[in-house]
Amino acid sequence: MSGVLFSFEGIDGAGKTTQVALLSQALEERGHRVVCLREPGGTPLGEKIRGLLLDRTEDPPSPVAELLLFAAARAQIVATRIRPELEAGSVVILDRFTDATFAYQGYGRGLPLDQILSLEGIASGIEPRRTWYLDLDSEESNRRRTLRGEAPDRLESEGDTFRDRVRAGYLERARSRPARFHVVDASQSVASIATRILQEALSLL
Ligand code: TMP
Repeated sequence: MSGVLFSFEGIDGAGKTTQVALLSQALEERGHRVVCLREPGGTPLGEKIRGLLLDRTEDPPSPVAELLLFAAARAQIVATRIRPELEAGSVVILDRFTDATFAYQGYGRGLPLDQILSLEGIASGIEPRRTWYLDLDSEESNRRRTLRGEAPDRLESEGDTFRDRVRAGYLERARSRPARFHVVDASQSVASIATRILQEALSLL
């Protein structure tokens, strides 16, 4: 595949979506064809699954059902959007990907990591060239979410202890995959984070 896959990760409020937009714009200005997608979602089926996963409901999925729904949305986006775009030579930038499942369902929910790994082989089978994890503590995440004034989705409303486990999971991913998975201090200014990420991205293209 001639394209390049990048992904962004982080707990809520870390600034992923802003950085995805800035990187995409900067790469487009330099002549690259860029496609930005979010997970869960990014396809008509995936957006329906996103609703099932994130809407607050009286009948929430069990942890395993939740894992399988994330995997179903991922299988669809990998088959119908990500692989075709990479084959066409695009730069694909993902707002969350497989590391989120390890962090949220593995470390957050406590599901076995080896089961998540096998499922990833079925649902995805591809790895980003570089992942930027925007690291933020729970306190700052809460502060930013309150400022945004948005109602938390089902996973966001799990609370600080859950978010702390998710963060620990992401930091463990960084320790075990240092070549791909880079930690960025999300308390820095938006501009300085964007500059560092753009330099790294350009060096990989
Ligand atoms: P976001 O698109 O606003 O970041 O929200 C997605 C939510 O879904 C967020 O709370 C993280 C969660 N999530 C998982 O729990 N597992 C996953 O594999 C993915 C992609 C997201």
